[in-house]
Amino acid sequence: MKTLIIYNSKHHGNTKKIARAISMVLEADLVKPDEVDITSLSTYDLIGFGSGIYYGKHHKSLFDFVAKLTNQKGRKTFIFSTSGIKKISFFNEFDKPLKKKLLKKDFSVIEEFNCRGWDTYPFWVKPFGGISKGRPNEKDLENAGSFARELKKEYLKTI
Ligand SMILES: Cc1cc2nc3c(=O)[nH]c(=O)nc-3n(C[C@H](O)[C@H](O)[C@H](O)COP(=O)(O)O)c2cc1C
Repeated sequence: MKTLIIYNSKHHGNTKKIARAISMVLEADLVKPDEVDITSLSTYDLIGFGSGIYYGKHHKSLFDFVAKLTNQKGRKTFIFSTSGIKKISFFNEFDKPLKKKLLKKDFSVIEEFNCRGWDTYPFWVKPFGGISKGRPNEKDLENAGSFARELKKEYLKTI
């Protein structure tokens, strides 16, 4: 299962830690959006997209990257993110905008992962060191590893 993970982790490197934990399980290649050779995408069985959440969605660079792609004919993909606040169903579904964009390009989105990441952006959180301090923590990294193992099982069921 040849896997590529495309990630951007600008704020505190939070998502990079998750990207690494997933890539260790999947033995994936790890790249930033501006490093991807688009012609090589067709050589991958599975492609992951991840970043911190910025104003309610993934980083713009991922949207810009996906916009450049042609129809992916059902290529399997997964999404992951880190966010200052907890993701809650029906309230702040951070993954939805990127998922929608991927579906428009005919990707098949098989799994999603989110955990909290240290956030010092809002001015009012700065005096006390930010929110979700220390995240992702060891437990989050373990969860990311378990997510990757499940993802592998899910993928194998689909082929
Ligand atoms: C400009 C900016 C906007 C952000 N917007 C949100 C947001 O809408 N919701 C949220 O939960 N966290 C938000 N955050 C916090 C980041 O999602 C969080 O810190 C994330 O872990 C950053 O990941 P990174 O270090 O990989 O870039 C924002 C952070 C920044 C810098």
